[in-house]
Amino acid sequence: QRPLLPPPSRDHYRDLNDHAYDIFEKSKCEENRGRTLLSRLQSMVSKTFSHTVKLHLFGSSANGMSLKGGDIDICMLIDDSFGDTDIVIEKLATMLKQNHFTKVLAIPSARVPIVKFKDQVHNLSCDICINNKLAIYNTRLVEDYSCIDDRMRPLVYVVKRWAKRRKINEPFTGTLSSYAYINMVISFLQSREPPVLPCLQQLAFGATSINGKVYGDNLADVTVDGYNCKYYNDLHNLTGFGKHNKETLGELVFAFFEYYARRFNYVTDVVSIRTGHTLPKTSKTWESINKKSHYYFSIEDPFEITHNLARVVKRSHLTMIISEFNRAYKILSRNGNLHIVCREFIHD
Ligand code: CTP
Ligand code: MG
Repeated sequence: QRPLLPPPSRDHYRDLNDHAYDIFEKSKCEENRGRTLLSRLQSMVSKTFSHTVKLHLFGSSANGMSLKGGDIDICMLIDDSFGDTDIVIEKLATMLKQNHFTKVLAIPSARVPIVKFKDQVHNLSCDICINNKLAIYNTRLVEDYSCIDDRMRPLVYVVKRWAKRRKINEPFTGTLSSYAYINMVISFLQSREPPVLPCLQQLAFGATSINGKVYGDNLADVTVDGYNCKYYNDLHNLTGFGKHNKETLGELVFAFFEYYARRFNYVTDVVSIRTGHTLPKTSKTWESINKKSHYYFSIEDPFEITHNLARVVKRSHLTMIISEFNRAYKILSRNGNLHIVCREFIHD
């Protein structure tokens, strides 16, 4: 383990905190982003398929953490009587073209089959997938976490902004999805002493007492596509959970980069918000393509626990991601300048 760097000075910490809130204020968008498009699409879908077929927002436009210009993620819930997914996808694509959406592209062979398109009028890019119920549930889990402590949302914005500008938020080329970064943020916040966030899934299994308060009273199991999605969601009972932790947003930003630049062990450990602590890689079996079950970086999906959210990350890309964590960590240690940390990456 490489030695830790000194934290920013008091003045630099103040700048860092200001920059973090600044990025948050400038990046967030209006709450109802995507809702108008959703209801327009819903009425087309009702006509084309049936009134029983429903559309749901998920991802950042549903959990309230989308960046300006970000994509809209929609999931269509439909039963088998309408035919195989590829037939449904083609029918959707035709429907979208007829309704003057542009850049309509059906990708029926993806792990999660989707149709991509653009709404030129509102300048929105959108994806519709079929029956991805787990995504609806994990979006709700993320949203519930973000309601427990006010520092999570701005921290997620800072991390997303940094990862996009540094070009390490491109799962299609071998780096991480925003959802993977959000898991890294939640795991980090669960690991603080005292914790900023609880572990909602552990709280749902048996009575647990934290700070003298008892949680988790035999909640009913919620099975979605074969996975247990139950978690403790009585948020009323959890307001103020993080108040024993007095760290500022600026301090958390620094500690986040320190955690993934120096403390987390990529070789041996797995990020797991389901358990609230890291797991040894040796304890996991992953659903794997090509019989390959060893991955350079492992992030366990909270519900679909055999799914590694970092499975696309190869050795060279992990090196790139870690060196970006180091770059950010060094700059923050030196002068707390988060604006420099989030500067656009330029290929030479
Ligand atoms: N998702 C998933 N498994 C993945 C990637 C994504 O289940 N491996 C689902 C999650 O429900 C996630 C949603 O897809 O909330 C959208 O993922 P992503 O676009 O990565 O995250 P966003 O929060 O939408 O971020 P962005 O604003 O960058 O689009
Ligand atoms: Mg998205």
